[in-house]
Amino acid sequence: MDSLVVEGGNPLRGTVPIGGAKNAALPILAACILAEGPVTLHNVPRLSDVDFMTLILAELGVVSRWVGEHSLQLEAVDESAVTAHYDLVRKMRGSFCVLGPLLGKRGRAVVSLPGGCVIGTRPIDLHLKGLRALGAKLRLERGYVVGDGTELLGGEIYLGGPNGSTCTGTANVLMAAVLAKGRTTIVSAACDPEVIDLCHFLTAMGAHIEGIGSPHLVIDGVSRLQGTSYAIIPDRIEAGTFLLAGAITRGEVTATGTAADHLTAVLDKLTEIGVGVEVGSDSVTVRAAGAFHPTDVTTLPPPGFPTDLQAQITALLALADGVSVVTERIFPDRFMHISELNRMGAEIRKEGPSAIIKGVKELSGAPVMASDLRASAALIVAGLAARGSTVVNRVYHIDRGYEHIEQKLGALGAQVKRVSEYTVPPPTLDGE
Ligand code: EPU
Repeated sequence: MDSLVVEGGNPLRGTVPIGGAKNAALPILAACILAEGPVTLHNVPRLSDVDFMTLILAELGVVSRWVGEHSLQLEAVDESAVTAHYDLVRKMRGSFCVLGPLLGKRGRAVVSLPGGCVIGTRPIDLHLKGLRALGAKLRLERGYVVGDGTELLGGEIYLGGPNGSTCTGTANVLMAAVLAKGRTTIVSAACDPEVIDLCHFLTAMGAHIEGIGSPHLVIDGVSRLQGTSYAIIPDRIEAGTFLLAGAITRGEVTATGTAADHLTAVLDKLTEIGVGVEVGSDSVTVRAAGAFHPTDVTTLPPPGFPTDLQAQITALLALADGVSVVTERIFPDRFMHISELNRMGAEIRKEGPSAIIKGVKELSGAPVMASDLRASAALIVAGLAARGSTVVNRVYHIDRGYEHIEQKLGALGAQVKRVSEYTVPPPTLDGE
């Protein structure tokens, strides 16, 4: 199993191009099930999650081929298959997004429940509630959702849950509603940029959606959707991760091809911490030199601070001049990175849904274990600032969401290499 070896201590400097958003690409790929005719998607990130999704789509009769470095052409050529198997769906939650389009377009679906996840329980009750409100008949059998959507009819659906709205739940209901008869209203829809992107893609295929970007979506069903050509939005989480990496190394990093307005809460926090932030027309630059001020961060649905950058900002605050509190309101158990950051010398303790972070003067490189995608990113960010080598094990998680991360960091002056086996020698008693 590959690991990344990160040599800390080099301030990152330079420009990094940001790719297309993973969490926009996955539902948009699923939405290709709905199209009659070929779809060409641009700015598609080359990630293992995207590869998994194209495999699931292939099993569902949607063929795809790369027609450029980041352009993917897809076409539904056979509508007979309706089963998304456990072996693939369990690998990533985004694949559950085939449920809505299968019900909407093919009238039937047999989709494995997504696997368990280390960031906490991830229920699908809201997905099922929304689809049932459209008239889908759903039952759970042997770990699969078995659905009949032959008579989908618009209705009013409240999709709020205990932690707010649901991104992939909104996506699933939307993708069933666009071909349902009549008008569907989704109240408490997710307003994340990735959901907005899906709405724009569906509209480009001929769907009628009003209220895009608001928690109140009104969808008038149409009889068919056609193929189209569409460019996916930039990945705000990839951009935020590189900006935090630039800041923690007290460097100067410009993320290009970025939508700064998707990062407002993050840039606001960086400014509060004492990092210089400059916003260009499609870029953001951070400059860091002095001490980091402690601060409190609470993750919230947009426009709040994104949960997918919580682990990375926790790494930065581990080096602040005082005590910070990071509270997780989306996934209250998403704190697997704390114990690994503490192995590197951080002083962080978990209290309920919060991390209490007592800033330390420096972090020290250590072998650490990546538990999930964003925890891996946080450990790399921490490793870039630590003294000595950090070995991030189980690095396959990072390839799910970051394209060529070691090359992109390398171009900024970081020393990061991928190795198949690496052992960190223990320290000696005399400190050598
Ligand atoms: N929730 C329910 N019931 C449901 C669905 C969700 O209670 O039926 C709860 C969740 O437990 C959570 C909250 O609602 O407390 C929000 O979850 P949401 O459904 O929005 O998450 P998701 O759609 O499963 C997507 C991203 C995640 C990202 C979250 C929040 C994809 C494929 N995944 O997940 O991305 O953290 O939205 O923004 O789009 C990542 O990229 O590392 C990642 C985990």
